[in-house]
Amino acid sequence: TVGNSTNIFWQECPVGKLERQRLLNQKGCVVWITGLSGSGKSTLACSVNRELYSKGKMSYILDGDNLRHGLNKDLGFKAEDRTENIRRVGEVAKLFADAGLICIASLISPYRKDRDACRAMLPDSNFIEARDSKGLYKLARAGKIKGFTGIDDPYEPPLSCEIEIIQKDGVCATPGDMAGEVMTYLEEKGYLQ
Ligand code: PPS
Repeated sequence: TVGNSTNIFWQECPVGKLERQRLLNQKGCVVWITGLSGSGKSTLACSVNRELYSKGKMSYILDGDNLRHGLNKDLGFKAEDRTENIRRVGEVAKLFADAGLICIASLISPYRKDRDACRAMLPDSNFIEARDSKGLYKLARAGKIKGFTGIDDPYEPPLSCEIEIIQKDGVCATPGDMAGEVMTYLEEKGYLQ
């Protein structure tokens, strides 16, 4: 039995992940960017996407806001909806990584257990958690929306993540600097081959 279904079987395809990776000359992985609303997740995702493209590497962004226009349009912001949101995006990210792409997921993903569940879906070290704590928080929203992350809804920062993007001496890093930190990590770990 898988989920609620019986009599379903895994189908192996003739072309495997290793062949796809060889074709693309890169290693599929997921760079998961977590952080408060307005902290700069999307800017960082776009910047890394551009840098990778300029090096001839294929990446694709899964943006929380955008996915809520389609795949996740039935979900709201209650705790269980956010958990389902992250689970679905984790599954999609896993497929992109299996396709050989560098998948950049950019979601608030406030609960540690949901991010850890996504990490557990991926083989070995192919889940790279990046915390965006730049802190440009849109306080203007305070009081206007109920259950807003960071105002009256919790955000649990990673206890240890692969990449931490923080402001230095009270100065926010530029998108280029932030992307540089992610690029250095990907290069050092052999994802760009
Ligand atoms: S989550 O928590 O990971 O499921 O959220 P995500 O899918 O990333 O969507 C976050 C964007 O939705 C807008 N928004 C809210 N965010 C947090 N709490 C509440 N209640 C809420 N309502 C709407 C918000 O603009 C987020 O966009 P970003 O890009 O993060 O600023």
